[in-house]
Amino acid sequence: MTSEAIDTNISTLKFWEQPRQVHRDTFKWLRENRPVNWNDPPEALDPGLDNAKGFWSVTKHADIREVSRNPKVFSSADGVFIDDFPQLETMLSFIVSDPPRHTSFRNIVSVAFTPKHIKKVEEQNTKIVREVIDTAAPQGEGDLCELITKEVPGRIFASYFGITDDDEIKYVMDTAEQMGAWSDPDYAHIGSPLEVFADATSRLGELALRHAKERQKNPGEDLMSWVSQAQYEGEKMTVEEVGVFFALLAGAANDTTRHSAAHMLTLFHQHPDQKAYLMEDFSGRADDAINECLRMEPPLMHFRRTALQDTELNGQEIKEGDKVVLWYISGSRDADVFENPDTLDIKRSWKQNPHQAFGGGGPHYCLGNMLAKQMLKAELWEIFTRMKDLEVGEPDLMLSNFMNGVMKLPGKWTPEKKS
Ligand code: HEM
Repeated sequence: MTSEAIDTNISTLKFWEQPRQVHRDTFKWLRENRPVNWNDPPEALDPGLDNAKGFWSVTKHADIREVSRNPKVFSSADGVFIDDFPQLETMLSFIVSDPPRHTSFRNIVSVAFTPKHIKKVEEQNTKIVREVIDTAAPQGEGDLCELITKEVPGRIFASYFGITDDDEIKYVMDTAEQMGAWSDPDYAHIGSPLEVFADATSRLGELALRHAKERQKNPGEDLMSWVSQAQYEGEKMTVEEVGVFFALLAGAANDTTRHSAAHMLTLFHQHPDQKAYLMEDFSGRADDAINECLRMEPPLMHFRRTALQDTELNGQEIKEGDKVVLWYISGSRDADVFENPDTLDIKRSWKQNPHQAFGGGGPHYCLGNMLAKQMLKAELWEIFTRMKDLEVGEPDLMLSNFMNGVMKLPGKWTPEKKS
């Protein structure tokens, strides 16, 4: 392919409006020709905000790995999106911090993720998945996002807060969707992209803080209570920090699994042979199948770092203060690492599939990756065993340079008879 045929200006929303195949061709060209490529500044998030810096696009698996594992040079503290959002840490918790501050937060939270707690959360997850499919399966047709893929992580995430009220669960789900959809026209009525994001994070933050205070007084059997009580070397998170952490999870835990599930249903519908192979031995094959779907369609397209000093990456000079964007959607299809990278092949073992959907390794590698995979496994099992002839239509994709999101996904199947 010639460079004239490829528009490498991935800064504008116009680029992201194009079909996914155009994005894939562009990233393939960049990997092969300009693996560390300079891009102009993105469109401003708000008329009052100067989104004035351009950024380096890092598209090769090895380079994403190198940057992710070197926080001394590539910092997260100045922001993790291409777009510049002000007051980051008050909205996004420790994902926008560097060691040693990051390490102490992550250690405290990790204390809450004990095997006993994880087991309890997994049991809850499986129960919630079943309940959602109990409602969806008898319906026979509808938007799979509304009926299932949004509902499952929304309810699971609400259970992390200890929330049981249906209206409040719906509020959390809708606000979490808004948080990741700052550029999508569905939310333009709220205001500029910055206002859409800030409105969602502040509403989630308020709700999370209220629940964190409540759990501190009356701890329950939920993740928020465990995080509130967790201590590492005598340090605990303040109630405000717990609140902000749960607002981060709204995007990190909720939206990611929601969009992954929708992509999986689409991928298996497009590849019935792979679905049949999976269902011959679901428990033996589901882990590899889920990793392969995450490789093909990582729900988070990028995270960003900022260079703390002049440095070099794959022969390219990077200056102190430059933004460096790690394209997980590109690294996960790098032909130097994956054979036939554009082919869904659930026979790839984990060893053959070091995809970057959960990041490139290093201190920020997804804390919830095991939980996410468990949730997706339970969801696929219930759907594929109870909605066996499910037909999936065209996905309506979110307009975003960050979230590889599916807003709507039509589905049709033989309704399950209510017992
Ligand atoms: C398919 C689902 C998911 C995907 C694809 C995903 C992906 C990611 C990615 C790419 C990162 C950043 C990695 C980096 O910058 O190096 C991340 C961070 C994080 N994820 Fe996930 N995630 C998922 C589900 C979850 C779940 C279910 C939870 C929690 C229960 C979770 C909690 C977090 C947290 C807390 C961070 C920040 C970690 C840090 O900064 O130390 N994620 N995730």
